[in-house]
Amino acid sequence: MKAAITATAKYVPDEIMTNHDLELMLETNDEWIRTRTGISERRIMKDPGKATSFLCSEVARQLIEKRGMGAEDVELIIVATMTPDMLFPSTACLVQGMIGATNAWAFDLNAACSGFLFALNTAARFIESGAHRNVMVIGGDKMSSVVDYTDRSTAILFGDGAAGVILEPAESDDYGILDARLYSDGKNGKDHLLMAGGGSLNPASHETIEKRMHFIRQNGKQVFKAAVTAMADTAAEIMERNGLDAENISWLVPHQANQRIIHATAERMGLSEEKVMSNIARYGNTTAGTIPICLAELDEQQKLQTGSNLVLVSFGAGYTWGGMYIKWQ
Ligand code: COA
Repeated sequence: MKAAITATAKYVPDEIMTNHDLELMLETNDEWIRTRTGISERRIMKDPGKATSFLCSEVARQLIEKRGMGAEDVELIIVATMTPDMLFPSTACLVQGMIGATNAWAFDLNAACSGFLFALNTAARFIESGAHRNVMVIGGDKMSSVVDYTDRSTAILFGDGAAGVILEPAESDDYGILDARLYSDGKNGKDHLLMAGGGSLNPASHETIEKRMHFIRQNGKQVFKAAVTAMADTAAEIMERNGLDAENISWLVPHQANQRIIHATAERMGLSEEKVMSNIARYGNTTAGTIPICLAELDEQQKLQTGSNLVLVSFGAGYTWGGMYIKWQ
């Protein structure tokens, strides 16, 4: 049995932070940001009382409504996030409580920007094995809670947002999630993209706050190079394993970290721009949110037909990366 996506939904906050807004806070400019990253604006959830569980519960409510199911019908909720409301309880448990999914069990999964792909592949096993008839998979991050708005090398990149899907048994084995290759490299990845403070190694203290350790730090150049290689290689691997080519692929749905990384991946696949989903200009990098937001927008715009071949690829902190082949049902 294969697992197929039967509903998509997204939620982004209304508040927009443009590159011009950032010009007032940092020594940067709109032209630099657009040419180096492809980003023009991002969404920021300014209400301090709202966190990742709010973004994800808005998605969960829409998913239930779109699928015409009751909250009590949901069997499992997986939330991919690296900005949970709290270290515990999990954000997935908070979402489960907020929507009243009283029969679901729920857990978080953290694979940073690859979180949604890792969660989707995990969820697929529960469907394929017959253990569950549905799984709700949501990727969401309130990145503004961990971004240092005095650091121009990271502040420009990230935004807040969430999206998700419902996975159910596919109508036939020809549809749904047909292949996935997921990877991690903690040896080479651990020092280049991280938030050092707040965990068990560096619990919050005056020192961690003074050293600004509760914010994202990254070696942009190193991460850029690793991302280009990993995403392009994995996309090529997924194509080869599944007999896909530039003609029969309908959409590349890549993690939205930098338009130049997206472009390099598409080029390696021989894909023309019109087959590449990109909304980084409007949302920036929403971490676990990027790929499901892309899927939800393609779905909203009715650009996904039965039989459409989708290649999803991601790269993130860890390092974590991967690719997936979905034939749309
Ligand atoms: N505005 C203006 N200038 C900036 C700037 C900003 N926001 N950020 C950096 N610069 C400057 C640098 O100080 C540097 O100046 P110098 O040449 O005088 O030293 C110059 O621009 C080039 O900086 P560099 O870091 O080499 O730029 P880059 O082309 O590598 O682009 C990133 C920087 C962060 C956009 C790019 O490295 C990137 O996207 N990396 C991957 C990040 C990512 O995807 N992270 C998440 C992974 S999922």
